[in-house]
Amino acid sequence: MPQIQKDISLKAFNSFHIEVKAAFFSSFESVNELELLIDSLDHVKLTESSLPILVLGGGSNMLFISDFDGVVLQNKIRGIHMLSTENDTVLVEVGAGVIWHDFVLYCIENGLGGVENLSLIPGTVGASPIQNIGAYGVEVKDVIEEVHVYNIKEKKQNVLKNSDCKFAYRSSIFKTTDKNKFVITSVVFRLSTTHELHLDYGAIRDELKRMHVENPSIKNVSDAIVHIRSSKLPDPAKIGNAGSFFKNPVVSEKILDAIKLKYEDVVFNKVDEGYKLAAGWLIEKAGWKGVRKGDSGVHEKQALVLVNHGNALGAEILELANKIQASVFDIFGVELETEVNVIQ
Ligand code: FAD
Ligand code: EPU
Repeated sequence: MPQIQKDISLKAFNSFHIEVKAAFFSSFESVNELELLIDSLDHVKLTESSLPILVLGGGSNMLFISDFDGVVLQNKIRGIHMLSTENDTVLVEVGAGVIWHDFVLYCIENGLGGVENLSLIPGTVGASPIQNIGAYGVEVKDVIEEVHVYNIKEKKQNVLKNSDCKFAYRSSIFKTTDKNKFVITSVVFRLSTTHELHLDYGAIRDELKRMHVENPSIKNVSDAIVHIRSSKLPDPAKIGNAGSFFKNPVVSEKILDAIKLKYEDVVFNKVDEGYKLAAGWLIEKAGWKGVRKGDSGVHEKQALVLVNHGNALGAEILELANKIQASVFDIFGVELETEVNVIQ
């Protein structure tokens, strides 16, 4: 039975490396342990007194503003199992606590295509459906078959189909209507043995050329993406960050045209709902790239990434984020929505 610890520092459990404490902390390695834990929280009156529960994966998409006066439960459910093979697709169930990139490497080793463009995204498999992780032209919704969950209030396991999760750009029911309702315990992926490569996004083709690769394999694509990412995104082990702090905003043609009148070089692409602007470009144009205020700052190579240069408080990073939002709104009339989960 997992122990519940008191007053635990979360500095090592969040990629911004913010020094805050959790009033209570525990972890679980199986659904059974999770059920026992939730029951024992009742027993010590933690859930009855409605102390909030926060499920933690790798802590790479969170900004803690203050000590967490509740129960942090770290998901450590491991295991990768091939469930079935049907023509050229394979269903694989992956424990929510498996490190995302380890799962990507497993797929590459086993010739399973579908997640190679999502190489090197930090965090766990269980967090991947929360914001529908995406990179280089692929989103995890493209390969998710089912999400296995535990409903905290009803104390029941359930299986959600892909369509139940209402996946969208950096969004799902887990981040909106059903926020904090479920613990994701495993995810079933539909992967492919015949590989359909996605090479059109950003610098992938250029990188493959630089690598002298003419007929790329899924491993080549993964290697190219690891190289591109490492060249511009800060490594959280060296400098605290949580990846893109804001979402790329989607605007109407009217707003895009107004921006184009002043800035011919505005970076955007057409999506179903309108025009998606590059938030990094907006923030850079507003003069924030590389700016540092105390220990909080904007990354010098990627303006969409806020960083902790050392001992920044969560509140200082949030204050910087608020200033960036206000300035981008003043200049372009565009609202930036936070992508990172801000935990007050
Ligand atoms: P955490 O930060 O621990 O949790 C994130 C949210 O999910 C929280 O609300 C938490 O409560 C909830 N949660 C976590 N696990 C569970 C679970 N099992 N059940 C229920 N709720 C849960 N994201 C992208 O989409 N694309 C990128 O290219 C990308 N690049 C990044 C680069 C860097 C350098 C960094 C630091 C982050 C990047 N991210 C990116 C963001 C981050 O990697 C993803 O959001 C990732 O899915 C977070 O995983 P995690 O396990 O660390 O989640
Ligand atoms: N740009 C600038 N200045 C900057 C940064 C970007 O002008 O400082 C412009 C460049 O023109 C560039 C364009 O913005 O071509 C897009 O930049 P990039 O390819 O780096 O991607 P992004 O839109 O900034 C998104 C995701 C990333 C994901 C990459 C690659 C969001 C919010 N972010 O970033 O995801 O890795 O595309 O697909 O959608 C994350 O979610 O945490 C994350 C890192």
